[in-house]
Amino acid sequence: MKNIILIGFMGAGKTTVGKLLSREKEMLFVDTDDRIVSEQGRTIPEIFSESGEEHFRNLETELLRRMQEDTYNAVISVGGGMPVRPENRRLLQELGCVIYLSATKETILERVKSDGSRPMLNGGELVSKVECLMREREAFYRQTAHVDVRTDGRSIQHVVKIIEQETRRFR
Ligand code: S3P
Repeated sequence: MKNIILIGFMGAGKTTVGKLLSREKEMLFVDTDDRIVSEQGRTIPEIFSESGEEHFRNLETELLRRMQEDTYNAVISVGGGMPVRPENRRLLQELGCVIYLSATKETILERVKSDGSRPMLNGGELVSKVECLMREREAFYRQTAHVDVRTDGRSIQHVVKIIEQETRRFR
């Protein structure tokens, strides 16, 4: 089986869905943020504050390039900003079947409101930050994904089931 890659906005459920999906399908689970954190020995907020967003984006692209060589039969959850760079969009599509986990602004806000670990949402007013970033990114998520899966009002189990059905034809 090729890789299954989960993309979508912060709070879309990529990591939670990815872990359950990987268990059900007996595939490896990889989270790009976790890999960057363990390779750098720093948290995401530390990387952003000490080295800047551009540096973090370079780490993401460099990791995606390496994954083309060393990652197979895995469910891969990627950071919400990964599909913004054109090169990343191409690399994600080459890596396997790309699933866009989408959610409304209201659902996203509910899920991210009490989490301070996301530098892209720090400082300023949360609602307008989320609105603005979602507007900027929506087209990139849709362009990159082979399949869109709505998560609003659906349980993790239900979302996993839909992904299993949708990915059968990509085997
Ligand atoms: C980011 C999303 C985060 C993480 C970083 C930047 C973004 O991952 O990569 O804080 O730009 O959307 P999650 O989508 O897993 O929260």
